[in-house]
Amino acid sequence: MISTSVKTTGNHYHIRTGKNILENELRDALSDHATDQLFLLVDQNVAKYHQDYINHSLRGITSNIKQFIIPEGESSKSISQYSNTLDFLLTNGIRRNIPLIVFGGGVTGDLGGFVAATALRGIPLIHVPTTLLAMVDSAIGGKTGVNHATGKNLIGSFYQPSAVISDIHFLNTLPDNEWVNGLSEILKYGAIHNDQIFEDSKIFLKGKPSDQDSDKLISLIDKCVKVKAEIVGKDELESGIRAYLNFGHTFAHALEKAADFHQISHGEAVFLGMLAAEKLSLSTGGTLKTNPLHAFRDLYKYRVPQEALSLDDLMGSMYADKKRTGANLTFVLLNKWQEPIVKTVEERELITSSWSVVFDEIERNRI
Ligand SMILES: NC(=O)c1ccc[n+]([C@@H]2O[C@H](COP(=O)([O-])OP(=O)(O)OC[C@H]3O[C@@H](n4cnc5c(N)ncnc54)[C@H](O)[C@@H]3O)[C@@H](O)[C@H]2O)c1
Repeated sequence: MISTSVKTTGNHYHIRTGKNILENELRDALSDHATDQLFLLVDQNVAKYHQDYINHSLRGITSNIKQFIIPEGESSKSISQYSNTLDFLLTNGIRRNIPLIVFGGGVTGDLGGFVAATALRGIPLIHVPTTLLAMVDSAIGGKTGVNHATGKNLIGSFYQPSAVISDIHFLNTLPDNEWVNGLSEILKYGAIHNDQIFEDSKIFLKGKPSDQDSDKLISLIDKCVKVKAEIVGKDELESGIRAYLNFGHTFAHALEKAADFHQISHGEAVFLGMLAAEKLSLSTGGTLKTNPLHAFRDLYKYRVPQEALSLDDLMGSMYADKKRTGANLTFVLLNKWQEPIVKTVEERELITSSWSVVFDEIERNRI
């Protein structure tokens, strides 16, 4: 088990990563809370595969548990699911000292975090991320929220958990495409902060990390956790360097929108977005040597039809982004690998030409 601490204003908590650690780490995390009552939110698929493991881990801790299942999928990050979840907590007598433990990927985590932030103006929150993406990214840093009909993540708050328990036992049942989603965020940390992450990620080139690779996987997840924890510790509310975590994401969001969020996964879009951001970095003065992302390109297979990718639509959706502030687009680019910088790019043609690597890459690895 590896432990990393996160320090934010008024909060200090640990992220524990290991295998079969749930019972011990829950016991430890709950020892700070003077109650024997617990509320659980559990992703539908996590309940399907891991309910016995969860029950077993809690057996010696308390039997006073109320559980609510969150339907799988992005549509659960909605005001209606938020409202249903609050109904469940409030009608079952939640009190301010009773912890909410959230088992799931980023969807259940973001929803559960927002519920914990707002129920009774804040109840204790413990994240148990169960996807690779949630372990390396969404469970860390305190961003919580739900989507709105006009866009993703537009309603939410910053709310830090009191503990994060990443038990790779859960990953045994993770579908193949979810591994790729997590890998893209892992490679992002390699690009913006820690070169060693590229080397360590080569365990993915042999397929899903096997039992023999458990220690390597735990160490890799923790390296990513440390990058995010360090950045969040310096910029909790995203007024500065936290933006570096969006490397590749401006291109990725436009791609996901153009493909209607179906024909391309978030991880595929982020990988392609990072390739485009590398090209834009080069054309705006970055000095980047060989691209370490290329070692992983064969792991990505694209289904998105060429017709779904109109350059005009992609550019239009970039400029229509609600989070844009000025007339020009701002990107996280690289001066060098591991040297990110936030840059406003005025020349529209440089952005347009960066899309060419995305189109070429999709052609190269189309299925
Ligand atoms: N808060 C943040 O800082 C942050 C950062 C990145 C992403 N996000 C958000 O995270 C969400 C994506 O998260 P995600 O990729 O984890 O998706 P997800 O939560 O939808 O999980 C992906 C799929 O895996 C299933 N699943 C979860 N754990 C499983 C397991 N152990 N075995 C089998 N199946 C399992 C889920 O049911 C779902 O079908 C997006 O909404 C995104 O906006 C938030």
